Amino acid sequence: MEIEKLFREHLQKFTSYETEEHAETEGWIQLNINENAYPPIKEILEDINSALKDESLLKKYPDPFALELRKAILNQLLRDKDTLTNRNTVFIGNGSDEVLDTIFKVFVNPGDEVIIFYPSFSMYRVLANLYDAKINEIKLNDDFSIPDSAYNQKGKLMFINSPNDPNGKSFDNNTILKICSQFPGIVVIDEAYADFSETTCLSLLKDVKNLIVCRSFSKTFSMASLRIGYALADALIIKEMNRVKLPYNTNYIAQLAAISCIRHRNKVYEQNNKIIAERKRLSEKLNGYNGISVLPSDANFIFVKFDDKSTTLKFLWDLKDLKIMVRHFSKPGLYNYLRVTIGTKDENDQFIDAFNSIAEKYL
Ligand SMILES: Cc1ncc(COP(=O)(O)O)c(C=O)c1O
Repeated sequence: MEIEKLFREHLQKFTSYETEEHAETEGWIQLNINENAYPPIKEILEDINSALKDESLLKKYPDPFALELRKAILNQLLRDKDTLTNRNTVFIGNGSDEVLDTIFKVFVNPGDEVIIFYPSFSMYRVLANLYDAKINEIKLNDDFSIPDSAYNQKGKLMFINSPNDPNGKSFDNNTILKICSQFPGIVVIDEAYADFSETTCLSLLKDVKNLIVCRSFSKTFSMASLRIGYALADALIIKEMNRVKLPYNTNYIAQLAAISCIRHRNKVYEQNNKIIAERKRLSEKLNGYNGISVLPSDANFIFVKFDDKSTTLKFLWDLKDLKIMVRHFSKPGLYNYLRVTIGTKDENDQFIDAFNSIAEKYL
């Protein structure tokens, strides 16, 4: 029996998500994954620890609809964002990856058209392939802005990452509003990195019915491992997302940890302000080199442009020799760039020293 013949046919051409390289030994500086530079603050760790000590807790199923967390998101986390306020407008997922997956489950029939931009977060393409959608990829302009051709598209879903991975810039609300008003399907704005930005489109949700905003606890709250993401949208959309999701998609410890993150958010934001200040410092430093420019970023990473591909690769490999990992995309239009996650001040100092010594060789 040929088991492969039983697999869904279109999986033959499916390529799964490529996870980024993780350091396997101690002593590496990991600036290629866009994790938060800091661990969760101690108040949140204490709440997680005391939940783990509660013997009766682990044997119970978690709240399938994470009601407490949904309330905390609306009443506390987003209360000053001028956005939706009814808890039927929030969906909780196992990371925003699952939120994105659930959006596909709700909206996409095989063959439906899905619009993605290039370059952007690669997961949209992976999911579109998994659900056998027809992908319409639109190339961003050279300055990573949205091209005019994006404004007269048809399709079921359109994905916009704001701030966009890998360049790091947010799209302004006028652009998003204009896209939503002409697009006949659903526009998904992925704001995984938006807490490092001054821009968010959350306020548009009150008036725009075909908009879903996805957010994550992974980056802002250093909770990538516990997997909590959420979507805000019209109650009709959220109801359907809750109907199709797996029953116990998020675990109780993660729900509780996310509530603790919300309770202690101001302290976390203070910690994140250090990342924002470091982003400025690092950008200014690297912009000082001839042949290198750093793109403006609203995220916890910067996109560094080199004059040519061979210098870019020399920096990539020499940094690696010095046990510093940054991200290179071997893809059209991106060969001359390195994406660098903002680390702690100490990590960034080491990165700058290393960069300097490499620059002396090649620039
Ligand atoms: C743009 C973007 N969206 C979503 C995600 C997924 O985040 P989560 O950890 O919440 O699944 C990532 C993760 O790197 C991301 O870069």
